[in-house]
Amino acid sequence: MPDSILITGATGAVSSALIDELGDAPGIRWRALVRDEAKVEGLRQRGIEVVIGDLDDPRTLAPAFEGVDGVWSLTSVHPRAPEHSMNIVWAARQAGVRFIVRMSAVGASYDAPTRNGRLHALSDHELQGSGLHWTILKPHFFMQNLFGAARSVAGQGAIYMNMGEGRLGMIDVRDIAACAAQVLKAPHLHRGKTYTLTGPASISCNEVALAIGNAIGKPVSYVGVPSDAAREGMTAMGLPQWVADAIVEYGEAYAGNWGNFTTPTVEQITGRPPRSIVEFASDTAGVFKSEDSVREVLEHA
Ligand SMILES: NC(=O)c1ccc[n+]([C@@H]2O[C@H](COP(=O)([O-])OP(=O)(O)OC[C@H]3O[C@@H](n4cnc5c(N)ncnc54)[C@H](OP(=O)(O)O)[C@@H]3O)[C@@H](O)[C@H]2O)c1
Repeated sequence: MPDSILITGATGAVSSALIDELGDAPGIRWRALVRDEAKVEGLRQRGIEVVIGDLDDPRTLAPAFEGVDGVWSLTSVHPRAPEHSMNIVWAARQAGVRFIVRMSAVGASYDAPTRNGRLHALSDHELQGSGLHWTILKPHFFMQNLFGAARSVAGQGAIYMNMGEGRLGMIDVRDIAACAAQVLKAPHLHRGKTYTLTGPASISCNEVALAIGNAIGKPVSYVGVPSDAAREGMTAMGLPQWVADAIVEYGEAYAGNWGNFTTPTVEQITGRPPRSIVEFASDTAGVFKSEDSVREVLEHA
């Protein structure tokens, strides 16, 4: 078991769930890399050591990486993600870190139909050739992405996406975190492995709408929209153009059933089946219920 692990992306969706999952895992010291001093309080209150550093600037990273055995590597959806991942590998190597567990993405490869997937392939291959011990997680579409539709669900009873009638094996972020925690606690069991993580079923957006509607007690329908409309809707909500483009590219791929599969991997790693869309909708119904709850969730996201 490692003595100490550095968690990157510590204020984001998956790493936050990972920190929840790890709880007070005995015997391991957890350190978080955070770039924004204003965001450290919650982590410090939970007893996690926080070190400030910015993945844009490798000169800021040494103090965070110094003295840790392993690193949880997570970068955001960004055109500079491969540079951020490269900076993680470099800082780890300089500090004598033994292993990296890297968050990649479903279908990441040089010929993936999304820019995000092709960028992840660059970083996966860099890590595989780095000489460090590694494990790579390639999770499917996050159920928690559906929070982006919370406002239209609350206001109009509708989910607008460009996924057509495609089916996909979407996964709850909490199950990604559960897998990551298992790998980080026993990295020797997972060395050199790449795991594609999915939810329990490949489902359509109509099934998603039904599950959310049942959970909040009012009808919700899925409305398939063209890619341009989806892109405009996201940029109007304030998403950066590159991120909106990335999401639209995934939507187009899913519309063509690119994501229509599941794997047994979550259960193999954690010993229990991944959460279904019905469980996700029931656990997060409050998010979709009213404009106020949506605002509250987005403010604390
Ligand atoms: N969404 C999906 O369906 C899906 C599916 C499979 C894989 N993925 C992959 O999952 C990853 C995103 O995970 P997520 O949704 O948990 O991320 P997220 O919520 O967007 O959080 C990103 C984290 O990275 C931090 N960060 C960004 N730039 C940084 C920098 N320059 N220096 C230090 N930290 C920085 C952010 O810090 P701040 O709080 O300061 O911004 C935040 O903690 C991406 O690699 C994506 O490709 C996503």
